[in-house]
Amino acid sequence: MASVSVSFPKYMSHIPTRHAGHLAELCIVPRNLSLMKQGSVRELRIVRSSNQTEPLIDCTNKPSDIPLLSCSEATERLKQNREKHKGKQQFLAMYSSIYGGTVTDAAAMAIPMDDHMVHRGHGVFDTAATMNGYLYELEQHFDRIIRSASMAKIVLPFDRETIRRILLQTVSASKCIKGSLRYWISAGPGDFQLSPSGCNQPALYAIVIEDQSLFDSKGIKVVTSSIPIKPPQFATTKSVNYPPNVLSKMEAEEKGAYAAIWLDEDGFVAEGPNMNVAFVTKEKELLMPNFDKILSGCTAKRFLTLAEGLMTAGKLHGIRVDNVSVEEGKRADEMMLIGSGILVRPVVQ
Ligand SMILES: Cc1ncc(COP(=O)(O)O)c(C=O)c1O
Repeated sequence: MASVSVSFPKYMSHIPTRHAGHLAELCIVPRNLSLMKQGSVRELRIVRSSNQTEPLIDCTNKPSDIPLLSCSEATERLKQNREKHKGKQQFLAMYSSIYGGTVTDAAAMAIPMDDHMVHRGHGVFDTAATMNGYLYELEQHFDRIIRSASMAKIVLPFDRETIRRILLQTVSASKCIKGSLRYWISAGPGDFQLSPSGCNQPALYAIVIEDQSLFDSKGIKVVTSSIPIKPPQFATTKSVNYPPNVLSKMEAEEKGAYAAIWLDEDGFVAEGPNMNVAFVTKEKELLMPNFDKILSGCTAKRFLTLAEGLMTAGKLHGIRVDNVSVEEGKRADEMMLIGSGILVRPVVQ
């Protein structure tokens, strides 16, 4: 026998219990729930037995043990929660197009539940490192988020120049010297449907995260990912659809490795969960997988430009962006991971 307990406000007590049961099953929450005072709810217990389809309802007058909070009480709790779980990363400033401004209090850095990015994953994002108070490679990242938004059929909330100005002003308000800027363009809030047709308007969010940790250049171990790679249409879009990347990273950690590397559907070396890969062959040729089925990494692109200097200096004898077989990768003299979160890390195992 399974039992589930649901709280209903008193004004719903006229609803015939049969219907109230269905409401409970649908988890309908009244719009004005926030206006109700703590304790003004009656508990309704729905009991199911394996051979019953209709729920049996047992009304008691026990007050709910889940408090109904006012807006200021919720904000206070958010602040306390932030204090209690202060992590290594500090969030210095957040811009939200819903607010139409920037906040620096981490407790106010929130996005609406009905934003389709939250409940449907209909949002794209990008980053840019802040180094010595400068944004590194902003234009390249910026071009990519605009491409990603177009692939996700999300109309830009503002014109390109306005978004750029908002990002710069958010970083400026944060006074961040070393850290990262992360920003999202979402279908926006509106409802809990699948189609974005009910969304009010697309939203822009940006956050500046302070990070004083030094980049590590120690050699790392990688494994091959058993989590399926995203199909090219989604792998080339930087959307918030990251569960495959998360599972791949977790798989690596479970195996004592730093990253699990994906192979594409033809068995060629693809990318890591948040980084690109490159090799230097025995013939001193720089080899990087094609970008047609993976994310076109801004760091990897910069890396390719800088590698031309190594060619001129005679340290590299060639640069090739092509299909890379596992055998070719294993035969290489060097393998490395490349991305804005790690810069360049040598692979040693
Ligand atoms: C799947 C994936 N590949 C590659 C990269 C590297 O891209 P970038 O150098 O632009 O950070 C990322 C970055 O987050 C990524 O998520």
